[in-house]
Amino acid sequence: MDKWVGKVAVVTGASSGIGAATCRRLVDRGMIVVGFARREDRLEELRKELMGKLGEFHYYKVDLCLEKNIQEAFAWVKGTFKSVDVLVNNAGVWRNSDALGNPQDWKLMFETNVLGPSICSKEAVNIMKELKINGHIININSDIGHYPPTLMANMSVYSATKFSSVSITESLRELLALHKLPIRVTTTSSEATFVCLLAARTQAIRRIQEINPELEDVEINSRLVAYCSDQAHSSVEKAGLIGLVKMRFIESDDSLSLRGAQVMEAIATDKKQNLIPFFLCATLGTTGACAFDKLEELGPICHAEDMWFHVDAAYAGTAFICPEFRHWLSGVAYADSIAFNPSKWMMVHFDCTAMW
Ligand SMILES: Cc1ncc(COP(=O)(O)O)c(C=O)c1O
Repeated sequence: MDKWVGKVAVVTGASSGIGAATCRRLVDRGMIVVGFARREDRLEELRKELMGKLGEFHYYKVDLCLEKNIQEAFAWVKGTFKSVDVLVNNAGVWRNSDALGNPQDWKLMFETNVLGPSICSKEAVNIMKELKINGHIININSDIGHYPPTLMANMSVYSATKFSSVSITESLRELLALHKLPIRVTTTSSEATFVCLLAARTQAIRRIQEINPELEDVEINSRLVAYCSDQAHSSVEKAGLIGLVKMRFIESDDSLSLRGAQVMEAIATDKKQNLIPFFLCATLGTTGACAFDKLEELGPICHAEDMWFHVDAAYAGTAFICPEFRHWLSGVAYADSIAFNPSKWMMVHFDCTAMW
C-alpha cells in the first residue's frame, strides 16, 4: 500500500456499509479519500471520526442519478486535490421490485447501479488520461451479476444491473488496453468454485434425467449434495448457498487434510437418505493453515461415484512451479477442474484466477 500514500481516491456510496469501511481503511493507510454520497450528515460524521489519521477524508454531496452533479463533483476533486488516482464504484441500491414490478424502481436501480458508476468511470478516466496517472478503478460487484437468482424473483432487476456492471467492467478494461492507458479495472466477486459447482450441477441433472426423464430439475437439485473439508474457503460455502445445494463440511484429520475414509462415510450416509452426491471440492493450500487435502484418495472416490472433482488451489497453487512441491499434486489427474490465483503469489496486481 505504500505507493498509494498521499494519492487521491474517490469512493461512491461512502456514507455507510462497504463504502464507509473502504474509506476508513484507505485513510488509515494514508490516502486522501473523497467520499461521494447523498447523506451529508453521515459523511460529516465520518469526516470527524477520521480526523487525525495518517490520510485525510473529505466529501462531496452527490446523487448518482444526476450526471451534472457527478461532473461537478469530479471537477471539484480535480481542482482541489489535483488528481484522481483511484475510483471505487461502490454505491448501489436494491428495491423490492421484480420484472413485473414498478418501472420507477427499475429506473432508480439502473441509474444508481449502472449509469452513475459508468459516468463516474468516464470522469475519472478523463482526469487520469489528462494527468497521465497510473490509475485503478474498482467496481464493487456481486455473484448475482453472473447468475440470475432462480428462486428470488424480486432480485431480478437488481441482478440485471449487476450483470451490466460485469459487462461494462470487461468492456472498459478492453477499451483502456486498446487506448494503451495505464489504468487497471477490477471487479470483486469470488466465483471460481461457484462456476465449477454450477457446471457440475448441470451435468448431474442431465445425467439423472437421461435415466429418469420424468424428474424435474428442481426435484433433482433438491437432492444434490456437495462435499468439502471443514477447512475450505468461505467462497466454497457461498457456492453451495447461491447454487442452492447442500454442502457437507467434513472433519479434516490431524494435519487438517480431507481424507478419503471420512468422505466415503458421508457419501454412504447421504445415499441411504436418497440424496445424490455430485461434487467435491478439495483444497491444495487452505487459507487458514496451508493444509493439503489428499487428492490421491479423493480423486478415485469421485471417479467411482460420478462426482465432479474440483481442486481449489487458489492460495498455494503457484507453489507447483517448484518441482519439490509437486508431490502434493499426486491424484490431480482425476480433477474435472482446478483453479489457482496468480493474484496471490505471482503478484498479479488485480483479482485474477486461472482456471482449467
Ligand atoms: C483456498 C482459497 N480458495 C478460494 C479463495 C477465493 O479467491 P478469490 O476471491 O480470488 O476468488 C481464496 C482466497 O483467499 C483461498 O485462499
